[in-house]
Amino acid sequence: MEKIHLTREKATLLITLYAKARESRLPDSVLRDCYAEAAVGRIDHDFSRLRMRRDEIIGLALRAHTLDGWVREFLSAHAGATVLHLGCGLDTRVFRVDPPAAVNWYEVDYPEVIALRRRLYPARPGCSLVGSPVTDLAWLAGIPADKPTLVVAEGLFLYLPEEALLQLLRAVTTQFPTGELVFDAYNRLGLTWVAHNRMIQATGAVTRWSLGSPQELETLVPGLRLRTEQGGYEPGDRKQRARYSWPAQTALWLMRRVQLLGGMTRLLRYRY
Ligand SMILES: C[S@@+](CC[C@H](N)C(=O)[O-])C[C@H]1O[C@@H](n2cnc3c(N)ncnc32)[C@H](O)[C@@H]1O
Repeated sequence: MEKIHLTREKATLLITLYAKARESRLPDSVLRDCYAEAAVGRIDHDFSRLRMRRDEIIGLALRAHTLDGWVREFLSAHAGATVLHLGCGLDTRVFRVDPPAAVNWYEVDYPEVIALRRRLYPARPGCSLVGSPVTDLAWLAGIPADKPTLVVAEGLFLYLPEEALLQLLRAVTTQFPTGELVFDAYNRLGLTWVAHNRMIQATGAVTRWSLGSPQELETLVPGLRLRTEQGGYEPGDRKQRARYSWPAQTALWLMRRVQLLGGMTRLLRYRY
């Protein structure tokens, strides 16, 4: 068993990992993430204390599934691309997406998270692990700058101070010739809602960054152009929607129709 000593933002990775592992055990799973399931089995932690609800499991899994789909689409259009998976935690997207050997994939998170990742998952050709805060931009110097580059960040940007996040995104759009940026974002109301989530509160993580509208980021980071936006926990189709409870389906319905609620949580895909 792996002992862990994660606190604050780092401890939030246990929430997303557990959701993905639990969803993968359901007969109608979209993720089928056997690596997440195995990792949960090997970490010395009482995950049952999260008291994770079925809707939370489905919501977090569908969010990851949508981002996986956008990553796959990018890689099918750019065979020899670079992928920067920021704040990767213990997410096993690289195994789920299974990119071709020509893709250079980088997993970036704090050194202690990357050290845990090394112990839990097998090494993979083409996949490099970078132990650094994402906002300490020195790590970017080690990334080849001549390939189309996809940046994917799930459950990360809300924890970053705005100026540090903008510096990171400006560095990405300046350093790489072309690419995409995909992530989840919350408006102010959404950020307050997340900050009051009992699982996040228990970690002591501080939520910092909110985005009023997707167009604002186009102004703040020259070169970014919005390609797609989707509700943060929106299912791709009716079959997936039916997996949520009726109260959760009603909440999603309201988020689609009431503008103020609509921006609480979004999945965003920009090109640059
Ligand atoms: C909610 S978890 C999400 C993990 C993973 N993306 C997933 O979906 O399972 C947030 C992750 O962001 C990482 N993180 C937060 N702030 C960071 C920073 N400044 N630099 C690097 N990683 C950071 C944490 O260590 C943690 O792994």
